Amino acid sequence: MLNIGIIGCGAITEAIVRGLAEADRLKIRALYDRHPQKTAYISGLLKDPPEIFDFEGMIKACDLIIEAASQGAVREFILPALKAGKNAMIMSVGALADDELLDEIKRISEEKHCKVYIPSGAIAGIDGLRAAAESKIEKVRITTRKPPQTLGVEGDEALKERVLFEGSAREAVKRFPANINVSLTLSLAGIGPDLTEVVVIQDPMIDRNIHEVEIEGAFGRMKMRFENLPSPSNPKTSFLAALSAISAIKRITEPIEIGT
Ligand SMILES: NC(=O)c1ccc[n+]([C@@H]2O[C@H](COP(=O)([O-])OP(=O)(O)OC[C@H]3O[C@@H](n4cnc5c(N)ncnc54)[C@H](O)[C@@H]3O)[C@@H](O)[C@H]2O)c1
Repeated sequence: MLNIGIIGCGAITEAIVRGLAEADRLKIRALYDRHPQKTAYISGLLKDPPEIFDFEGMIKACDLIIEAASQGAVREFILPALKAGKNAMIMSVGALADDELLDEIKRISEEKHCKVYIPSGAIAGIDGLRAAAESKIEKVRITTRKPPQTLGVEGDEALKERVLFEGSAREAVKRFPANINVSLTLSLAGIGPDLTEVVVIQDPMIDRNIHEVEIEGAFGRMKMRFENLPSPSNPKTSFLAALSAISAIKRITEPIEIGT
């Protein structure tokens, strides 16, 4: 039985608890959010609700700690979880643009024999990129189109299509901390946050988050396009990102792993 603790009780966690309602071999034992009413809401969705609502209790009772909160929560909770010898899953992967934090996570995981899982999030094809990275990669580029409001653009400025950002993944996750996590996932699987290219476009004509990923290297060329519907409770977060967390959790507990 995998005992799970989740930090952050927002859109992703709501999808996780709904998606795991019938899952065997695991139990959500602990929840924590800085807003207790959010914890209470998520807890209320569970048939067998947890009894632990603080981080210290979570660390004691759980084998896997899932961060689905914010970039800051990665340092605040994932480092102590790893130090306590727990496995971890990170959704706010943009936090790993901080090399010092990433190195610390790697070092502690190795020392404590822990594993850190980073789901594919709002895109797919990370397996192909990882394979391609075994040889030379010349280019990784992601072009993201989102409705202006989800990028913090309001009023008259929101009425037209506009390129808001063009640069490296490292800069992109600083500029849009709650929006462009996938660029860091691509970076970690491929050529790093300084060489991974990101374009962010506000597009008032769309009702979904569109990601186009282009990869070129010794293997040839890959081109992928995702038209992601938003999560019901957070338009910034694609529903696919939440689903990827559910499937990553199930992969840990199920005996056969497909497409690794
Ligand atoms: N990897 C991906 O592809 C991907 C895709 C979408 C979202 N995300 C990221 O996943 C995270 C969660 O997304 P969401 O849509 O569920 O967000 P959300 O805003 O709906 O919910 C986040 C919850 O976490 C809580 N929280 C934030 N920081 C906290 C802290 N330091 N301590 C305790 N509670 C804290 C908030 O109160 C909130 O209830 C975000 O950082 C988001 O950027 C990643």
